[in-house]
Amino acid sequence: MKPGFPGQEAIREFFDRLADDWDQDQVVGEDRLRAIVDLACLCPGDRVLDVGTGTGVLLALLADRVRPHGRVVGVDLSPQMLALARRKGVTWGLGDELELLQADVHALPFPEGHFAAVLCYSAFPHFQRQAAAVGEMARVLCPGGRLVIAHNESREAVNRRHREIGGAIGGHELPPAGEMRRLLASQRLGPVLLKDEADSYLAVAVRSC
Ligand SMILES: C[S@@+](CC[C@H](N)C(=O)[O-])C[C@H]1O[C@@H](n2cnc3c(N)ncnc32)[C@H](O)[C@@H]1O
Repeated sequence: MKPGFPGQEAIREFFDRLADDWDQDQVVGEDRLRAIVDLACLCPGDRVLDVGTGTGVLLALLADRVRPHGRVVGVDLSPQMLALARRKGVTWGLGDELELLQADVHALPFPEGHFAAVLCYSAFPHFQRQAAAVGEMARVLCPGGRLVIAHNESREAVNRRHREIGGAIGGHELPPAGEMRRLLASQRLGPVLLKDEADSYLAVAVRSC
């Protein structure tokens, strides 16, 4: 992977350090994860991308949706997170249908229109150039494909938590609703849903032709 933006190394190191304890610290039930995956409207045979996949908490659910003949691709900056996702993929028996890559959302190594859906779960605030990141996620989506940005807290709670943690992720924020709408619209993504509630933040958009 080419060197990224200033500060990106610190973000990678931050998540590398968290990787070993990540899964045991997660309190989100499978129902909630399933509801997020539902928003991608996947069909058997689809190719789906999970950006900032971390230890791969969505991967098995995504694989269930695109079987048979589909493909699940997870990308992340952090090799330690990806190592755990790989281990899980083996445990779950996800063979050729799963691909995990160290890659930066700002320079996704895939051709235009390659995926039926892109998910970005608990990762968007960490992208340093959010317009460029949305542009890349839109580029790799096929026309009619869905982008799903999801969190299990409100925007305010996500932003406050990152401010409190500080350090490498101190200023990492979800933008206000108006800005998110503008970001999506500027990349030919028509918003389907923008929801900001106490226990969830969702931005879902469809790539126009
Ligand atoms: C809060 S974790 C969420 C991981 C996983 N989606 C989950 O919910 O368990 C955010 C992930 O985004 C990754 N990340 C941060 N910046 C990234 C970038 N520019 N490109 C790709 N992944 C990135 C981090 O390495 C980290 O694994």
